Amino acid sequence: MKKLFALVLALALALSVAACSGGASTTPAPSAKPSAAPSAAPQKLIKVGFAQVGHESDWRTASTKSVQAALSKEKGFDLRFVDCDNNSAKQLEAVRSFIQQQVDYIVIAPIVSTGWDTVLTEAQSAKIPVIVLDRTIDDSTKYVTWIGSEFTNEGLAAGAWLKDYAKAKNIKDLNILVIKGTTGSSAEIGRTKGFEKIAKENGWKILDQQDGNFTQDGGQKVMESYLKSYKDKFNVVVCQNDNEAFGAQDAMKAAGVTYGVNGKVILISFDACKAALKQVLEGKINADFQCNPLQGEFLADAIKKLAAGEKVPAKTYMKEPWYVAEDILKSITYTNNAGQTVTEPLIKVTQAIADAAY
Ligand code: AHR
Repeated sequence: MKKLFALVLALALALSVAACSGGASTTPAPSAKPSAAPSAAPQKLIKVGFAQVGHESDWRTASTKSVQAALSKEKGFDLRFVDCDNNSAKQLEAVRSFIQQQVDYIVIAPIVSTGWDTVLTEAQSAKIPVIVLDRTIDDSTKYVTWIGSEFTNEGLAAGAWLKDYAKAKNIKDLNILVIKGTTGSSAEIGRTKGFEKIAKENGWKILDQQDGNFTQDGGQKVMESYLKSYKDKFNVVVCQNDNEAFGAQDAMKAAGVTYGVNGKVILISFDACKAALKQVLEGKINADFQCNPLQGEFLADAIKKLAAGEKVPAKTYMKEPWYVAEDILKSITYTNNAGQTVTEPLIKVTQAIADAAY
């Protein structure tokens, strides 16, 4: 009897210990619905201020779309976008406003390459890392990384192509008009430097170089003025972007000057946007040297790495092919801006290539 009493006591004790351990409270009452899985804490969005150059070209539109797609809310970003309308004062103001908003990162596509050190010092004091996109900043190193194009190589490649093309077509004299991009932008500085180097080495005559501000309207106006001063004196027009080339074409058409594969003027352009590659396909632009605007994913990747405390490369160069209208040259060889001799393919544009372009 004593043994039976001790057994009942031990059993009661064990049950009471189990009830106090908390395990029982996780068991739902028979009538309760199964509890939903605890919802994940809302992800904190990374605040990014982006001071974009403006909306001057097809290239710029593609650049903006690329950044907006890569830095979307769904991908974990709170993107604050400012179109600076090609106005440097507005761009500095945008950066200062991002500092006030205490964003996590500031991205700048600089209109011009100088005038940056003061505002970058302010960002540094506010402990906001700055990332430079597209064009370079040349008077300050107070940014963590840069993603963009080797503009000098684009200019060198255009010159190397013209040299070989003129030889293949037996054109002895080259009289060149250049429609430059925005003065003081690294895209203009680099393309000018690269092309001038080859022009000098080959004794070509650059008759004039004026600023078309990377716009169609600017390209047309500069070409109209060139046509007044240099009619019948030039056989090459170099436009530092596609939109300027569209404007130059309009001006030449109106003046009865023919251009392209079957024309009197060799037309060279940069960017290689969809509308321009269609023109290369039709022989209305002879060669187009790509500047790649699809930088958004590289930017998102860099920001995520920085947010995770990882290192990012100081510079990321975009890959950029060279497009031509004719089959006569397969490649160009030149000394690039890093001093290396490179041989790069020339791609004859097809309908599929033009359709796939940005
Ligand atoms: O900085 C890139 C240049 O800027 C592109 O060539 C031009 O189209 C744009 O406006």
